[in-house]
Amino acid sequence: MSDPTTDIAAIANRFETEIGAAPDLAALDDVRVAALGKKGEISMMMRGLGKMSPDEKKVMGPALNGLKNTVAAMVETRKAALENAALDAALASETMDMSLPVGRKTGTLHPVQQVMEEMAVIFSDMGFSVAEGPDIEDDFHNFTALNFPPGHPARDMHDTFFMVPDAEGIQKVLRTHTSPVQIRTMMSQKPPIRIIAPGRTYRCDSDQTHTPMFHQVEGLVIGEDIHMGHLKGCLMDFISAFFENDVETRFRPHHFPFTEPSAEMDVRYERDGASIKIGSGDEWMEILGCGMVHPNVLKSCGLDPEIYQGFAFGMGVDRLAMLKYGMPDLRDMFAGDPRWLSHYGFGPLVQASLESGLS
Ligand code: PHE
Repeated sequence: MSDPTTDIAAIANRFETEIGAAPDLAALDDVRVAALGKKGEISMMMRGLGKMSPDEKKVMGPALNGLKNTVAAMVETRKAALENAALDAALASETMDMSLPVGRKTGTLHPVQQVMEEMAVIFSDMGFSVAEGPDIEDDFHNFTALNFPPGHPARDMHDTFFMVPDAEGIQKVLRTHTSPVQIRTMMSQKPPIRIIAPGRTYRCDSDQTHTPMFHQVEGLVIGEDIHMGHLKGCLMDFISAFFENDVETRFRPHHFPFTEPSAEMDVRYERDGASIKIGSGDEWMEILGCGMVHPNVLKSCGLDPEIYQGFAFGMGVDRLAMLKYGMPDLRDMFAGDPRWLSHYGFGPLVQASLESGLS
């Protein structure tokens, strides 16, 4: 009878060859099962140990165990090599050439985003910076500091969304306008101040020209010698730059608790079939609210109205987007329909600028 340990060395050699030749992970696993699986060659041999004499067992036990461990280690080594090769192949075949031009239009900027960027470009050219505030506001910033005393009837006109009161009974609101950012800015910054505050605002209202969430851009200028003439010049320049056209405007007296005097600015327009042409024509359309910051508002923010004064304005971004780009229904803006977005959206790689054109 031949030396059984020689047979074992031969078996080890045979598996070594098979393992080395396995072209992929599936083939390797077949070899592993044929050797070490429940009914595999080595497993069967180990099962045979029970029928051997104690002397045979002494030799064959450790030899078979060694064979099992050797083959298992060879499988693991080959497996790691095959996995590395698969990863290298994937890396090689999936490389991206980052210098290739974008071939297909994949996404668009929402018109609201586009219009906000256009506004930021125009106002930053006039020396404004961008300020922000939270969407969930307290009563002080949204109303009281803006000269709406508790119980003031103008509060009811804001169709406010109220939050559930917190543990201390404090009831916050979804801001009904971006004017609370005026308060936050004046309380944290010394004049001169020149900011715009774009953001989301909320009112419990919904029809063709109102959505419960909408966007505003607030403006605030505070200094020692700011007057109504600055307000008019600034807004007239803005509107002409925004519509990329000479637009005739008029200021009409109005009332806001936080400005005195207050005005609304209208632009001339005419209807051309279903579309609206801004700038000329016989009709007037209201486009924004504005005024000189009320002395009570300055006082609420710790500014002395005998020294400082300034103007503020607020306008609806969504409405301006509709007028400039001709969408018929405000509600479609926030429906998230990709067909609407691919029709009205803007190329994400083109930056609005005063030199190359806003839109
Ligand atoms: N906050 C006002 C509104 O939402 C707009 C406004 C802002 C008016 C600043 C005057 C000054 O209607």
